[in-house]
Amino acid sequence: MSGVNEIRSTFLDYFRKNGHEVVSSSPLVPRNDPTLMFTNAGMVQFKNVFTGLEKRPYTTATTAQKCVRAGGKHNDLDNVGYTARHHTFFEMLGNFSFGDYFKANAIELAWNLITKEFGLDAKRLLVTVYHTDDEAFDLWKKIAGLSDDKIIRIPTSDNFWAMGDTGPCGPCSEIFYDHGDHIWGGPPGSPEEDGDRFIEIWNLVFMQYEQVTKDERIDLPRPSIDTGMGLERVAAVLQGRHDNYDIDLFRALISASEEATGVKAEGEHRGSHRVIADHLRSSAFLIADGVLPSNEGRGYVLRRIMRRAMRHAQLLGARDPLLFKLLPALIQQMGRAYPELVRAESLISETLKLEENRFRKTLERGLSLLSDATGALHKGDMLDGETAFKLYDTYGFPLDLTQDALRAREIGVDISGFTDAMQRQKAEARSHWTGSGDKATETIWFELKEKHGATEFLGYDTETAEGVVQAIVRDGKAVDSASAGQQIQVVVNQTPFYGESGGQMGDTGVIATDNAKLNISDTQKKGEGVFVHIATVTEGMLKVGDAAALTVDHDRRSRLRSNHSATHLLHEALREVLGTHVAQKGSLVAPERLRFDVSHPKPMSAEELQKVEDMANAIILQNAPVTTRLMSVDDAIAEGAMALFGEKYGDEVRVVAMGKAIEGPKAGKPYSIELCGGTHVNATGDIGLVRVLGESAVGAGVRRVEAVTGEAARAYLAEQDDRVKTLAGALKVQPAEVVSRVEALIDERRKLEKELADAKRRLAMGGGQGGSAGDFREIGGVKFMGKALNGIDAKDLKGLADEGKASLGSGVVTLIGVSEDGKASAVVAVTPDLVDRFSAVDLVRIASMALGGKGGGGRPDMAQAGGPDGAKANEALEAVAAVLSA
Ligand code: ALA
Repeated sequence: MSGVNEIRSTFLDYFRKNGHEVVSSSPLVPRNDPTLMFTNAGMVQFKNVFTGLEKRPYTTATTAQKCVRAGGKHNDLDNVGYTARHHTFFEMLGNFSFGDYFKANAIELAWNLITKEFGLDAKRLLVTVYHTDDEAFDLWKKIAGLSDDKIIRIPTSDNFWAMGDTGPCGPCSEIFYDHGDHIWGGPPGSPEEDGDRFIEIWNLVFMQYEQVTKDERIDLPRPSIDTGMGLERVAAVLQGRHDNYDIDLFRALISASEEATGVKAEGEHRGSHRVIADHLRSSAFLIADGVLPSNEGRGYVLRRIMRRAMRHAQLLGARDPLLFKLLPALIQQMGRAYPELVRAESLISETLKLEENRFRKTLERGLSLLSDATGALHKGDMLDGETAFKLYDTYGFPLDLTQDALRAREIGVDISGFTDAMQRQKAEARSHWTGSGDKATETIWFELKEKHGATEFLGYDTETAEGVVQAIVRDGKAVDSASAGQQIQVVVNQTPFYGESGGQMGDTGVIATDNAKLNISDTQKKGEGVFVHIATVTEGMLKVGDAAALTVDHDRRSRLRSNHSATHLLHEALREVLGTHVAQKGSLVAPERLRFDVSHPKPMSAEELQKVEDMANAIILQNAPVTTRLMSVDDAIAEGAMALFGEKYGDEVRVVAMGKAIEGPKAGKPYSIELCGGTHVNATGDIGLVRVLGESAVGAGVRRVEAVTGEAARAYLAEQDDRVKTLAGALKVQPAEVVSRVEALIDERRKLEKELADAKRRLAMGGGQGGSAGDFREIGGVKFMGKALNGIDAKDLKGLADEGKASLGSGVVTLIGVSEDGKASAVVAVTPDLVDRFSAVDLVRIASMALGGKGGGGRPDMAQAGGPDGAKANEALEAVAAVLSA
């Protein structure tokens, strides 16, 4: 008997030995198919390879593919727990040929694997073929030696496999295993075929066609092969079990759940343990692939699965969150084959715990309401739609949870009453629609939200995806199509484009359909969750309903990621350097730079900024992974996450953590933890480098820090370096000597300026050799020096007057300085022996009058004045001289 893990590897090894490329499972959220909610078959990732649209470097492949069948077209959710073979999550083993081998090889490979490698008894096997497929009939006969009665022709769509309404398809042949006549049931095609005796274990699809539209089917470029074997089913056969839930993997999960609840998986509890084991798998794998519980789309399917499991945990008497406790058992079973489970362990664990805690609050109250409302009901009755809606709306009971809770009593739910109640509530909500801008145009987004739901954002995990065009808006109105040259807004059911929020700018890129090409210049979020692509149609014609390939501008998005993550690092570094009063007041994450406003009362010093930059770069050099988790706001804040005051958060928040604190109270914990919906680098090293450009004031108590990262930071530094080199060249020194050389030059200049001033002065006082006019004479026995000096500053006049006095010994000095614009300043100095006879203050007033001024001031031995009329300098000197001669 082989365990699930050995069966999986035996299958993959067998096909590898037969020349097949072993390809990893694709994610559960399909990127190449907008119409598919979850990956539900192995061929999903190869859809475009079959049709020839996509080329891969191999023509045969084998996979173990994660699949979810819940929500959407294939929905097995309601049956899980009640049957032996329904799962919301399962693994499909498959081999594929893309125009390489066809029917004969496919049949031979399959037959040899199950009879030789797996050692199944050929007598227990039988197969079906499509009723017109004589070729397959003959091949089974020839290759497997099956007798005619073991090859059953089936005329229905059961033996014509199609992935959906469109896409690759073809006749198929299924291999059945006979569990023995102790189990009721008949072979396929017989009236008892729904019994459990004959179980399909492998489906071989002979892919030949592509369904292009509902009415048109064309040949594939080359006949191909797609097969699917349910791992859980084949494991049951190989382990001698009839029930999938009895295989080793499920027994391990169920015994973990028995242990955690203390309740045996027997009798009425058997189903609950099965539900928990199955739903744990789908929840964990969906979360690992980027789906988080929400009230929309994929997130709502996940929430329904989780809540259904939680009700069953409650039925088993669990009082505390249970599912997260079972995660280690799941990782032990499946973590080697699917390392994404290990990588996402804490995210899965937190998300399970959060959802369980949240739902626990209303689950019991809802169940008691349900029991009151149905107390008087009997088998075959219906619960009214109003109550079902109240359970949904107030207590968070998905409709299928209510149905599941009543199933054992065979009570149904009035679905149309439920839908009516929902419609009434929507109509009520509609009356409150408002938009922030022009109301008439904003309302359209609320209408689109109601019609199509919120846009599913895939951009945390991918930059390319396919979607279906749900709406085209032109000039504020919804239109059916748009043609080349038109400016429009486009809404698609799912998108990798980030809609501007939290300071991070919206993504740009291209959208292409079979008939049109669009340039996307921006993406905005409107009407509570509708992503609006601002577009110009560059080619062709776009129509509502078209399938579209969306591609984000990768380079720009990478720069946005770096700048956003760097903002978080700078935020934390600013708090450490300046203090915890530092709070974010706004930010702009653009591709070319980042801007971050914080509360801080004074300018930051160059040293502080340098420290901030050094700290952020130290975390970048750690190259530590950046992790994202979904938590309740309270838990997030308790963990130290920085939330923005006044910001409105939902119940659940995304928490982004990066780096590791080396010292201080946070040592060993994440360096930065913030509530953030933005897109970030995978590891801090991806930022490369952060360079703070500077800081400035943007308002009272708010400072703005600007920075660049990655290539922009490198280019900035290279430019600075270039400048230093040019400077060094001009100064004829080594770059390292530029600073001391410039300091020396500045010193030298200062000295030269002083020497120049001295020389000018000496020239001025040295008697008439230029720049000066006036005289030196004796008037009435008093020595008089009178000079008009061009280009001598007023501030130098007093010093010159002192020098004049010294050279006279006894006398009166009058100096008139005339500036370049013709204004005059006058200084009169009187030696001490003469102050009794002449007051400098009086004399300078006289000079000032002559210069058109109003007098001046000072002391009797030295006074100063000014006047507008420098041309009258000589008259002023004469006026003073006249006083001496009087
Ligand atoms: N694609 C085929 C299936 O899902 C093999 O059954």
